[in-house]
Amino acid sequence: METPFPTGFDILTLPPIPLPRRVLMTTPTFFDVEYVINPHMEGHIGGVDTDRARAQWEALRDAYRDLGVDVVVLEGAEGLPDMVFCANQTLPYRTPGGDQGVVLSRMNAPERHEEVAHYARFFEDEAYEILHLDADITGDLGSSPGQSFEGMGDALWHPGRYLLWGGYGYRTDRAIFDGLSERLGFPVLPLHLTDPDFYHLDTCLCPLDETTALIYPGAFQQEGIELIHAHFDRVLEASEGEARELFACNAHSPDGKHVIIQRGCTETDHQLSEAGYEVIEVDTDEFLKSGGSVFCMKLMFW
Ligand code: ARG
Repeated sequence: METPFPTGFDILTLPPIPLPRRVLMTTPTFFDVEYVINPHMEGHIGGVDTDRARAQWEALRDAYRDLGVDVVVLEGAEGLPDMVFCANQTLPYRTPGGDQGVVLSRMNAPERHEEVAHYARFFEDEAYEILHLDADITGDLGSSPGQSFEGMGDALWHPGRYLLWGGYGYRTDRAIFDGLSERLGFPVLPLHLTDPDFYHLDTCLCPLDETTALIYPGAFQQEGIELIHAHFDRVLEASEGEARELFACNAHSPDGKHVIIQRGCTETDHQLSEAGYEVIEVDTDEFLKSGGSVFCMKLMFW
């Protein structure tokens, strides 16, 4: 049964959660476009300039370091060209009581299934609690092998609160969110994705801080847009061109002050500056060939 959209609750009544301080990045050593599982990958098979990709990845890593974020690096594995997109294999969480854990994803495409085990090992070493969809997410919810969940590609924390935004329709099944909410005790605000170019929630919603989000409205249904406006005081909108071609909404603010974003999102940058953010432009065009940019290339954890 689908839970109704939670409405009428005040975000300020939800438990505060500290912003994550560390960022995980996976080396692009084996990154390439080897198959097509999203529309952006079409025409790019074998087309990645590996040296350029490496330089872009290093520059992104350095951008985080320059902001004082602790960057932890995981080695990419051979045969897993999409493993570099480390936002997708897990959802790290921190409960109001301070317990830290991760929910492991069940990747939608078979080509990506094996990536998850690498991240499970990483978080075991971090002494995080590991939750499996099958065993730990209760009831029928999350236990059907046909259902997929792609971690922080589709599950985004509302900055500073125990509240999750959940995208579904392409890579993640909506029922998974009901299971997560039940197991971990946070509300989920579900958003239906209907444009294949915006196949992950992180391609069209970027929560910048507790009161501000950057979105591409064309990726959502009317209901979803209303939900976003009901829970963020300020909603900035990226243009279609910058959102679709340059992944403007796949930007990331690690601290609610700086926004790291693909170079050339001129109109979005302008809006961000006007809203008081400091824009940091990076080049991720080798990764755009695979349908990913800044947000997908890192995973924030505590
Ligand atoms: N090629 C990858 C895929 O289609 C890109 C993933 C990008 N990640 C993201 N969080 N949007 O799965």
